[in-house]
Amino acid sequence: MNSGSEQEVSRTVRGADGGSLLRSLALFTRSTQSAVAFSPFEKGGMSRAMTQPFAPAAFPYARPRRLRDSPWVRRLVAETTLTPADLVWPLIVHDGAEDRVPVASMPGVFRLSPKAAAAAAVEARDLGIPMVALFPNVDAAIKDGVGTGATDPDGLIPDCIKAIKDAAPEIGVMTDVALDCYTDHGHDGVLEDGRIVNDATLERLAEQAFIHAHAGADVVAPSDMMDGRVQAIREALEANGLQDVLILSYAAKYASAFYGPYRDAVGSAKALSGDKKTYQMDYANTDEALREVAMDIAEGADAVMVKPGMLYLDIVRRVSETFRVPTFAYQVSGEYAMMRAAMANGWLDEERAILESLHAFKRAGSAGVLSYFAPQAARLMQRG
Ligand code: PBG
Repeated sequence: MNSGSEQEVSRTVRGADGGSLLRSLALFTRSTQSAVAFSPFEKGGMSRAMTQPFAPAAFPYARPRRLRDSPWVRRLVAETTLTPADLVWPLIVHDGAEDRVPVASMPGVFRLSPKAAAAAAVEARDLGIPMVALFPNVDAAIKDGVGTGATDPDGLIPDCIKAIKDAAPEIGVMTDVALDCYTDHGHDGVLEDGRIVNDATLERLAEQAFIHAHAGADVVAPSDMMDGRVQAIREALEANGLQDVLILSYAAKYASAFYGPYRDAVGSAKALSGDKKTYQMDYANTDEALREVAMDIAEGADAVMVKPGMLYLDIVRRVSETFRVPTFAYQVSGEYAMMRAAMANGWLDEERAILESLHAFKRAGSAGVLSYFAPQAARLMQRG
């Protein structure tokens, strides 16, 4: 409304012929349009909604509440939607004897045996959830310095993939590619002299991804944040006739306190020595996230992820607008746990809070969201 060029035109018209209101309005409109056509905002990736070539009416002609007046009109004009198809359900699986063991810091989440994971996959399919994501909790006795268990072709994850594919072949199976659940130091890479060595880790990750893909995983998701891991994985898949397997890279994964309950769930909390700040990102940064995503796409990632999710919606927005590739986000264990705690205390309305928290990801531009709320949310959506 107040751009310099609009005011100039309007003044010129008034000055030239005594100020015909109609003419000045006509020119005003045209100048608004041309100003928008050359808007400097467009280069910056400002969304189309912000550069629409009209000036909104002022009150009382504009009454935004008209578009909110009843449920039908709210539904009609909703800019984004959330459906079960937007959800990925993370499953914590374990090699213990019991089918379901509750995770204390994540109420409603259980460590599942391969058999129970297969039942969960059937439930996901019936709810319209397109994919499950597997995260392992293995016996501490099999953990070692290089995460040998991560590349066991008869290990827990290959077992779960096969059980799920037998029970619900229609559903996508995604696996976590990282060593932390299998190392006795709890880090995502190989540890030498107190440092996580990048290039030696790449070989381990490529082998792990190959083993998952060979067992039937549809999507391998490196969550380790080593440099060059997408390329190493993509080359291993190509070389072994597994070129159709998707890579969803955790491209912008931040060193976060909000993974705490997950590390409990997979049993890596006790093992972890130090922090992950030499490989996971510093939460002060956003440009760095764009460089990470650019590299991963160039190396052969099909889709990318931002993690954590709720605290990082600004990153989801920047990544999805800049790259226009499917951008996922992970509502992580700490985000889940804090909501569950508030719900348990009666401080948050459970159903409304779950749906609002998940919808926020869609509004920020994400293609889908990994959430421990997935089955409950899908049930709420089905109920309408
Ligand atoms: C590590 C991994 C982590 C999560 C998924 N994969 C934690 C970490 O980096 O320490 C976190 C998931 C969550 O908090 O819900 N490979």
